[in-house]
Amino acid sequence: MSNYTYSTIILAAGQGTRMKSPLPKVMHKIAEVPMIEYVINTAKKLNLSEFTVVSRSDAIILNDFLEENQVNTSYQNQQLGTAHAVKCGLKNLNLESDATLILYGDTPLISEETILKASEVLFADEKNAVVVFAFEYLESNQYGRLECQKDNVIKIIEFRDLEDKQIDKLTICNAGIMLVRSNIIKKCIEKVEPNNSKGEYYLTDIVEIANNEGFTSKYILGEFEEFLGVNSQKELANVNKIVQERIKNRFLDSGVSIIDPQNTYISYDANIEPNVTIYPFNFIGKNSVIRSGSIINSFSHIEGAYIGENSIVGPFARIRPGTKLTEEVHVGSFVETKKAKLNKGAKANHLAYLGDIEIGEKTNIGAGTIICNYDGFNKHKSVIGNDVFVGSNSTIISPVEIANGSFIAAGSVVSKNVEEEALVVTRAEEKHYAGKARIIKKRKSEEVKR
Ligand code: UD1
Ligand code: MG
Repeated sequence: MSNYTYSTIILAAGQGTRMKSPLPKVMHKIAEVPMIEYVINTAKKLNLSEFTVVSRSDAIILNDFLEENQVNTSYQNQQLGTAHAVKCGLKNLNLESDATLILYGDTPLISEETILKASEVLFADEKNAVVVFAFEYLESNQYGRLECQKDNVIKIIEFRDLEDKQIDKLTICNAGIMLVRSNIIKKCIEKVEPNNSKGEYYLTDIVEIANNEGFTSKYILGEFEEFLGVNSQKELANVNKIVQERIKNRFLDSGVSIIDPQNTYISYDANIEPNVTIYPFNFIGKNSVIRSGSIINSFSHIEGAYIGENSIVGPFARIRPGTKLTEEVHVGSFVETKKAKLNKGAKANHLAYLGDIEIGEKTNIGAGTIICNYDGFNKHKSVIGNDVFVGSNSTIISPVEIANGSFIAAGSVVSKNVEEEALVVTRAEEKHYAGKARIIKKRKSEEVKR
């Protein structure tokens, strides 16, 4: 990594109206993580001396997120344009760094490598003041265009201000992101005037301003994919698809067996070890760890869970936050777990709710077992020991402790602690009436005939 230091401003105060969503645009999720987190993570990889995100004070969800993550926040309460937004950010920076990087919160795929390349260009000559991130013309796009002389940028013209004949001639498009020498940015931004068709302060104007000050402006070309901006739900879905592909390729390369990558959804922060097998149609959400040798069968929804070595999950399992399957645990079809720790060799193969519970080693939870953890007011926790057999359709009313080696007969309702190796049966007496079924059926059929 180069030794240049950076002040970074992430612009995120725009309205995002085209998302048609009450959520601030940059808080929309990509692979389960807010879009802006990608940009922040990239910014943090640099030799950062300081950074700020430009937000609006009414973007409460965004501001809460920034506060939780201890991100310096600047406010722009009137959206007067990109240069104005940068100006608001500059108020919170001391600019003792070498370069100031302007990123967009809605352009999440920008890479650290491209930023470092831009720095090389900026510092190659002491006359260089600005580096514009750009890409080659792609048919019918509405990005601003660079007017260049050799490799110098003369100015940037917004798409709406282009003359017809310029549209095909100017083939280098402005991705929006810029790198500017920290010792001149403030002076250049101050000089931006809103004299354009939109009446906005355009950041793009700093190219001409710097040039007029006797500096030169440069550009670097990157892949279009890296500069993809998110302005609509459709574009969000597109970026999500790209990120999903990257995540799954990373796991495939590391030795995770994903049978049908296109039909598997994995969160950005998932930790999946090699030698895990994931069958089609699984959702692996935020904060999930899946250890080697485990198999995730189809249609399982996993979130905030630890799945230890050689475990089997699903098909059709719902593994909710706080679940810990230590190792060699089986959680089968239509089983829901929440804040549940299942120790080595425990099994719940069919139809169960396991919430706020610890289950001991080699304990078997029968089909239809429900842990009643909620009494309508509070949640309660139960503990089931090792080698316990919980018969089908049992109801465990928390809080109880069910000791090692005990046996709960099918259909029991357990509301008291169970001693070691005890048998619990809580059924109503079973009565059989010889021939009664035949009599009832006969009576019914006569009624129908009448
Ligand atoms: C901008 C560029 C355009 C470029 C395009 C690439 C300008 C004048 N134009 O246009 O040349 O091709 O990006 O995507 O810079 N924002 C604020 N406050 C504001 C306005 C914008 O924070 O007052 C933020 C937005 O949240 C967004 C970013 O700045 O993250 C870009 O704003 P946007 O309105 O999308 O600029 P474009 O018109 O796309
Ligand atoms: Mg835009």
